[in-house]
Amino acid sequence: ISTAGTLDFANPLSVPPLAPSTVASDGTKVFKLTAEAGSSRFLPGGPTPTWGYNGAFLGPTLRARRGETVRVAIQNALEEPTTVHWHGMHLPAIYDGGPHQVIAPGDEFAPEWTLDQPAATLWYHPHVHKQTEEQMTRGLAGMFIVDDDGQDLGLPIEYGVDDIPLILQDRAFEDDLAFKMTSDAQTGLLGDTMLINGTVNPHLAVTTETVRFRLLNAATARVFNFGFSDNREFTVIGSDGGLLPAPVGVERLLLSPGERAEIVVRFRPGEQPVLKSFPQELGMSEAFNNEAGGNDILDLLQFRAAAKLSAAPGLPPVLATLEPPALKTSVATRSFILKGMYINGKLMDMSRIDAAVGAGTTEIWNVSNTDSQPHNFHVHGVQFRILEINGAEPGPEFSGWKDTVFLPVRASARIALTFGRYADPATAYMYHCHFIRHADHGMMGQFTVIET
Ligand code: C2O
Ligand code: CU
Repeated sequence: ISTAGTLDFANPLSVPPLAPSTVASDGTKVFKLTAEAGSSRFLPGGPTPTWGYNGAFLGPTLRARRGETVRVAIQNALEEPTTVHWHGMHLPAIYDGGPHQVIAPGDEFAPEWTLDQPAATLWYHPHVHKQTEEQMTRGLAGMFIVDDDGQDLGLPIEYGVDDIPLILQDRAFEDDLAFKMTSDAQTGLLGDTMLINGTVNPHLAVTTETVRFRLLNAATARVFNFGFSDNREFTVIGSDGGLLPAPVGVERLLLSPGERAEIVVRFRPGEQPVLKSFPQELGMSEAFNNEAGGNDILDLLQFRAAAKLSAAPGLPPVLATLEPPALKTSVATRSFILKGMYINGKLMDMSRIDAAVGAGTTEIWNVSNTDSQPHNFHVHGVQFRILEINGAEPGPEFSGWKDTVFLPVRASARIALTFGRYADPATAYMYHCHFIRHADHGMMGQFTVIET
């Protein structure tokens, strides 16, 4: 059962609500999330059983400001254990929500930390070892927006009006309209039905000349090569972990599972362009591997610009100040070879620590995909910089803060990581492939941050 090829963009795009919060007596901003089962209607034939946070599918957008202390009271109302991982967040390992911080059914977990990173589009999702693909596919995921005084000046910032989250996922359906959960594709299940913020076949009414979109590839296995039906140029303003130093004009933008980007698109009155995904243009034929959907052409979202649009100023020429990575003081170089379901020949072992890094130190990690299928590489608890991809500097749209780097077939990346201040020799952060089936199969390792 599929909606491929029949899009008329009939459904208004839903936008995840902003999560309400309360302020505790000590000033902490408190959010509540309940992981629960429900059902959602994607296809005309009937409902699909789904999971969500505070609702049947996906979760609300959490939003807080740098410097604020937040606590998220998470209730597990599911019938199986889950975890909630804060992807892209710098926070203590005990609150990271990785495979060690399991919340049993009926239990609560209340991580609390102070936001100390630049304005960024982050997200949250489950991370139970061997169950993550299943739990994410059922619908557990949401966005976390970090704001920062002094940044965002002059950028569209009104949530749901000119600042719109776009959570992209693909799904396949069984005959009874349940989500398909398995396939023999090695990279993971590819769906023929695209969901944006949980909406099938969506359109978005545009009322302002410029709109900022926060793109999140929340698919488990699909790579999107974003662009517009008229091949217009659009502007990338942010990568995974923050704003870029300056706006970057592009016609295409490639995001693998877990990656985010913030873009600004300029609209003309009355027009109806379509956001699409185009075949990957990787310049290496063996990388044209449709395992990750790299050959697909997809219609994603139609924009319907009003006959009169509110005026918007041009973008500021400088968006953020990024220190160059502290290469001179780097204390270690490590290599990670991705092949099969292995990293450096090893499968994930929850009792094995693969690396101990010093709090506040900088390391260079060389990550190589020597496999015949695409992978990517995500590191918890830190934002890094890509120094080289296949021996060359990355494009400017990938030169800012990143926590996930795409590694097409035979690609390698050299990244610089400066670890944060939360030393805890007893609790590990993860690094792993974010093609989630691979992580579930063991393509994951653990590191601790120790006092130096
Ligand atoms: Cu988005 Cu370890 O994950
Ligand atoms: Cu992989």
